[in-house]
This record gives sequence, structure tokens and C-alpha cells, in this order.
Amino acid sequence: MLKLKNLVMTVDNANGSRRDIIHDVSIDFEPGKLYAITGPNGGGKTTLAKIIMGIYQQSSGQIYLDEEDISGLSVTERARRGIAYAFQQPPRFKGLNVSDLIKIARPGIDGLELRLKMRDVGLCPEDYLERDLGPGLSGGEMKRIEIAQVLTREGVISMFDEPEAGVDLWTVQRLIGLIVQKYQNNPRSTAIIITHHENVLPICDEIIVLEEGVIKLQGPAQEIWPLIKDDIQCKMKDQCRSEVCYEL
Ligand SMILES: Nc1ncnc2c1ncn2[C@@H]1O[C@H](COP(=O)(O)OP(=O)(O)OP(=O)(O)O)[C@@H](O)[C@H]1O
Ligand SMILES: [Mg+2]
Repeated sequence: MLKLKNLVMTVDNANGSRRDIIHDVSIDFEPGKLYAITGPNGGGKTTLAKIIMGIYQQSSGQIYLDEEDISGLSVTERARRGIAYAFQQPPRFKGLNVSDLIKIARPGIDGLELRLKMRDVGLCPEDYLERDLGPGLSGGEMKRIEIAQVLTREGVISMFDEPEAGVDLWTVQRLIGLIVQKYQNNPRSTAIIITHHENVLPICDEIIVLEEGVIKLQGPAQEIWPLIKDDIQCKMKDQCRSEVCYEL
């Protein structure tokens, strides 16, 4: 189980004052469950995921993984313990190709499985596996590769930061299906999806609403979704004349 205890992250504002971007956040993430973290832009979702991954160090509070205090561990040590994070904006590693990245996630992966992982996220392995992870890949392609990388890991905590962002509508549904299929009711792992997507939120087990660094709501999706759905769903539906809905 992943346990966040009284996490606080304080940053300096430009005017010299200080601000909590994460304020006293405590959450118990149970195995076998799919969690959604949602809330307005700037609410602290990505910051929280980066604190869990060890990319950011919290100002105070603790993180426990199966009773072990991992608060001081590096990103690499946390990755070894099975924590994985698919970035909202995936970093580009020039000089590394797509195949190298997937093999970091699972070093023993065989060629067939590697190709299947690419197909899962809708990318043709013949076209992509040898491509450099530099600026030549589009944002949506990088996003899919990043998701393939986390799906390849046998992680105990798998976090996906807005998997829908920048990915075409045809692929979003497929990616969400893969995440749900792999993690829901899997007793060995916990998945955390940071999302604003109205098709994802109601199918998760739990929803956490983070606003201004504070947990505003938390509970089973069937209780929380009715409370937030009017805020999430497109306000323009009735007036909209577009033939294709771009709402995400
Ligand atoms: N390293 C940092 N230093 C200072 N402020 C930061 C830092 N990282 C994030 N912030 C600020 O903290 C707040 C939370 O940012 P965060 O990226 O976690 O929000 P978010 O909920 O992921 O938003 P979005 O939905 O837009 O992705 C924002 O106001 C952001 O500007
Ligand atoms: Mg974010």
C-alpha cells in the first residue's frame, strides 16, 4: 500500500512570499484499485505525482510504500521498488531510441512482446522502434510511447499524468481501455490516473479532487462523480455546432 502522510510542498513566489502548492495531503492508496486524481489546472496534481516519484522533494510529510518510509529515496530507488510515472509532458532523451526506452522498463522483454506493446498504443513497431527520442517525434507520439513504457513495467504503483492530453480521440479510448484492463482488480498493483476526462472518471474506483493543493473531495467514484460531473462536462454541448466533439 502507498501511504501519503501530511505532505506539504512550499515554493517561493516571485515577490519573495512563500506558498504551499501541496498542503497537508494524506491519502492511502490500496492495491487492486484504480484512482483518479482530478481538479482545476494548477491544483497540484502533477506536483503530487512528482513527489511520489521522487522527482520533487516534499517540504514536510512522509511517503510509505508497504510500511517502508521511502520519503528520502531517489527516483531510481523508487523505480526499483515498482513506482512508475508517465509524464504529463514526456521528456525527450536525445540519443536513446524508442526500443531502448521500453527495454529500460523491462530489460528481458523479447522482440515479439516489444512489438506488441507498440501496437497496443497504436504505433507501428517497424516505423517507431528505432526512432530517436529527440525532437523528431510529435507530442502525441511521445505521449503514447511514454504510456507504453509504463504499461510494460510490472509496477506496484503506476501513475499516468493526463494520458488523454494531446492524444487523438480515436487513441484515447484505446489507451484508457488498456490501463483499466491492466490495473483494475489487479491485487498486486495500484494505478493512479490524473485526468479531466469524463469517460475515465466514472469508471475509476476512487476519485480524489485536488484544488489549490488541498484535497477537496475523495471517495468512491459513484459518490464523487455526480458531485463534479457538471463542472467537468462540456458547458457548450447544447449550443455547439461542431460536427466533431473535441471535448476531453
Ligand atoms: N517547481 C515549482 N516551483 C514553483 N511553483 C511550481 C512548481 N511546480 C509547480 N508549481 C506551481 O504549483 C501549482 C500546481 O502545479 P501542477 O503542475 O502540480 O498543477 P496541475 O494540477 O498538474 O495542473 P494541470 O491540470 O494544469 O496539469 C501551479 O500553480 C504551478 O505553477
Ligand atoms: Mg498537471
